[in-house]
Amino acid sequence: MLKPIRLVNKNFLSSLDISKEEFLGILDLAKNFKNKTLEIQFKDKVLGLIFDKSSTRTRVSFQVAMSRLGGTTIDLNPNSSQIGRGEPVKDTARVLSKYCDVLAIRTFKQSVIEEYAKWSTKPVINALTDIEHPCQALADFLTIKEEFGNFKNVVLTFVGDGNNVANSLILCGALLNLEIRIACPRGYEPNENIIQKALQIYEDKSLLKINNNPESCVIGANVIYTDVWSSMGEENHKEEKDKDFLGFSINKNLVSKANKDAIVLHCLPAYRDKEITDEIIESNKSRIFEQAENRLHAQQALLACLFS
Ligand code: CP
Ligand code: NVA
Repeated sequence: MLKPIRLVNKNFLSSLDISKEEFLGILDLAKNFKNKTLEIQFKDKVLGLIFDKSSTRTRVSFQVAMSRLGGTTIDLNPNSSQIGRGEPVKDTARVLSKYCDVLAIRTFKQSVIEEYAKWSTKPVINALTDIEHPCQALADFLTIKEEFGNFKNVVLTFVGDGNNVANSLILCGALLNLEIRIACPRGYEPNENIIQKALQIYEDKSLLKINNNPESCVIGANVIYTDVWSSMGEENHKEEKDKDFLGFSINKNLVSKANKDAIVLHCLPAYRDKEITDEIIESNKSRIFEQAENRLHAQQALLACLFS
């Protein structure tokens, strides 16, 4: 029977906290959970959720994943706990790790989540920061694997802001040695530190391509991916970014230039008719709702590995 693999690192703060083998092992386990060919119970395990930003998918999929594993979650709203009052992370992390078996944290700075991990004696999961969204990337690659069977010769083109989601796709692309193309307006390129980390581990460094031309980037692509132009925390730049991103929408014309078998992904929530048209979200090219479903299975698998 398939068993969860014991992950070498205690925490999942970045897509690079797991190896390629661990990454593929989590996807295998997720597929088995999804197909209901595997059931594993971790009775009484508790996941603490600390979300400094809004969430629908991540929060609910973690709650349901824990319930399916026989455990439970505690939703720590920063405004109604002492976190909002400014209790130091090093105190909160040490106290919560006495009650909880794992913490999933959504916040702004990557350094905050690293501080939690430093003081927590239990695993800490990155549920999104300004820099990475590694849980999302697990579900994304599960969706891609379901569609194409494996990652061989898959070309993923991300059109939009070089944000947390793009950064995680780049790091996973490097782990899998899969072609990642990012098409973004000038000045919105992905984080330079992330690019350098990815290039250090890419077997073939030419597989990471960053440019400012969506049309040329989608030619030959099997996966076209986008995300919002303004992420949480960037609300004040929305007007300016909406102008800067004109021409970077995923629409019928752009999709027609990709491979015939191309699918379209979006991590959601989406602004319909901004970064992606309503027509494409609802088209037979879209795997967006399968991708959202896969958040549940991928996180259930991740948790099972962290508890093993
Ligand atoms: N994709 C994603 O993380 O969605 P939520 O913000 O709803 O969790
Ligand atoms: N880039 C988006 C992702 C939301 C899931 C954000 O950070 O708001």
